[in-house]
Amino acid sequence: MNADELRLKYLEFFKSKAHAQIQGKSLLPDNDPTVLFTTAGMHPLVPYLLGQEHPAGTRLVDYQKCIRTGDIDAVGDASHLTFFEMLGNWSLGDYFKEGAIEMSFEFLTSPQWLGIPLERLGVTVFEGDATVPRDEESAMVWKRLGIPEDRISYRPRADNWWGPAGTTGPCGPDSEMFIDMEKAPCGPDCAPGCSCGKWLENWNDVFMQYNKTAEGVYEPLARKCVDTGMGIERTVTILKGRQSVYDTEIFSPIIKAVEKAAAYTYGSDGEKDKSVRIICDHVRASTFILGDPKAVSPSNVGAGYVLRRLIRRAVRHGRKLGITGLVLSPIAQVIVDQMSGPYPELAEHQGYIIEELDKEEQKFLETLQKGEHEFEKLLPNLLKDPRKIMSGRLAFKLYDTYGFPIELTRELATEQGLTINRAEFDEAFKKHQELSRAGNEQVFKGGLVDQGEMSVKYHTATHLLHKALRMVLGAHVAQKGSNITAERMRFDFSHDAPMTRDELEQVQAIVNEQIRRDLPVTMGVMSLDEATASGAIALFGEKYESQVKVYSIGDFSREVCGGPHVEHIGSMGTFRIQKEQSSSAGVRRIRAVLE
Ligand code: ALA
Repeated sequence: MNADELRLKYLEFFKSKAHAQIQGKSLLPDNDPTVLFTTAGMHPLVPYLLGQEHPAGTRLVDYQKCIRTGDIDAVGDASHLTFFEMLGNWSLGDYFKEGAIEMSFEFLTSPQWLGIPLERLGVTVFEGDATVPRDEESAMVWKRLGIPEDRISYRPRADNWWGPAGTTGPCGPDSEMFIDMEKAPCGPDCAPGCSCGKWLENWNDVFMQYNKTAEGVYEPLARKCVDTGMGIERTVTILKGRQSVYDTEIFSPIIKAVEKAAAYTYGSDGEKDKSVRIICDHVRASTFILGDPKAVSPSNVGAGYVLRRLIRRAVRHGRKLGITGLVLSPIAQVIVDQMSGPYPELAEHQGYIIEELDKEEQKFLETLQKGEHEFEKLLPNLLKDPRKIMSGRLAFKLYDTYGFPIELTRELATEQGLTINRAEFDEAFKKHQELSRAGNEQVFKGGLVDQGEMSVKYHTATHLLHKALRMVLGAHVAQKGSNITAERMRFDFSHDAPMTRDELEQVQAIVNEQIRRDLPVTMGVMSLDEATASGAIALFGEKYESQVKVYSIGDFSREVCGGPHVEHIGSMGTFRIQKEQSSSAGVRRIRAVLE
């Protein structure tokens, strides 16, 4: 079964169960500043999950294009993608756990539908915690349907809880379905939910029971709902008996286009294959972003910045394959031809897709050429060095003056038998950031004395804390100062009463929840007006440069700041508030650590 057939079968199955098919929506969400992209099929349905009536009824089914950038660094392996398609069915106060699980089971295992052997199916259910009980009900239904107990895993909130798409919204425990990829278990505890590669998740039934409010409170929903999501790419991989999404017909025409552009045969070299996969994924995501009715163009902010990063990363991996000219648009054309059936907007906007890709690729190639030219000018002198070392200062100059990425300088240097003094480069880079910081953030924000790894983590933590405090205490909270060392952070903010224990716990939980979500940190440069219009927190009464940097932590926080920050927050550790006390009149001080 290929992707087109799977899409049709899914719709047909749920229509036979009285679901109305609804139209998937834009990749760029409507009126929702909390996320850059539609990350799941439920996203456009949030108002209905929260209680609004849907004109099509209480049982819905659709397919939805989605983008998730949280795992962008994992793209290139067997299963991670930035762009993917999700099939979904919903109950708006209609069936709940039993009905949802029975239908999922039937669709997966019935020979009339997917016919996946029962022996290959495993599931996880929510193990329960202080606020929500263990989901015995779901486990019972799975057992009754024939899933043996050792293939039903109870998992904690980190695994079996669907959080709101943004920071607020409908949420609840979920039950996930996994297919045994018929590899040896990694150990005695290997069970559905294990990430060793034996179990591949392909569907998730979420039991929406709460609305998480801006204050971080879980309000029970008046009407319980079901939200499910099945990944098309992964399911096709399973049905085809393949180990990787790239070994399916979803990607084979795209891989062919890359092979043609690169004069390289996929499968001959592990590193190069990874570059091929990254190009396929990134061009696919870029094509869908540009082909969206609400398309953005490459820029330095928000969704446009993600698009720019995807395109530039594809170009850089193209160079690893020996590609030097413009190649992204012919690859995009293959995707337009392949996907315009289910997504006619691609054919409709193909002129724009091709034009924008060519423009951005050209621009980046010019940057790269300029950098290479400068490198060549430096080369005769570099080769005179008997130790064959290129100074970090020079490598930094290429970066600073021409925007030439250090990875490429390293590649060019390696080709010439040179090594870069990386410590010196890092040093110069750090100094540069300190300088821009001096002209920018720290003049008014104070605090970041050193830029070591821990201090940078604490710096990012101040943004998370700032936002969490505003969520819990209110928008009057403004940062009054911060002081960071490698061991701890201090954060001063306006608020005129001691915080209660409950408030402190809520703030701490919100920060840790974001860390668990492993949100990416992105930076854009813009005018202060644009920054505040985009919802960024800027400090009132501060002097800013005409152009400011805005750091966004996923969909969670956005602040005018000079940086530096970590790239992904997942590795920051656990955030713990040690102390909250008065600092001066109307100003409180929090001392916190990352453990
Ligand atoms: N919203 C759920 C998910 O994306 C179904 O996994």
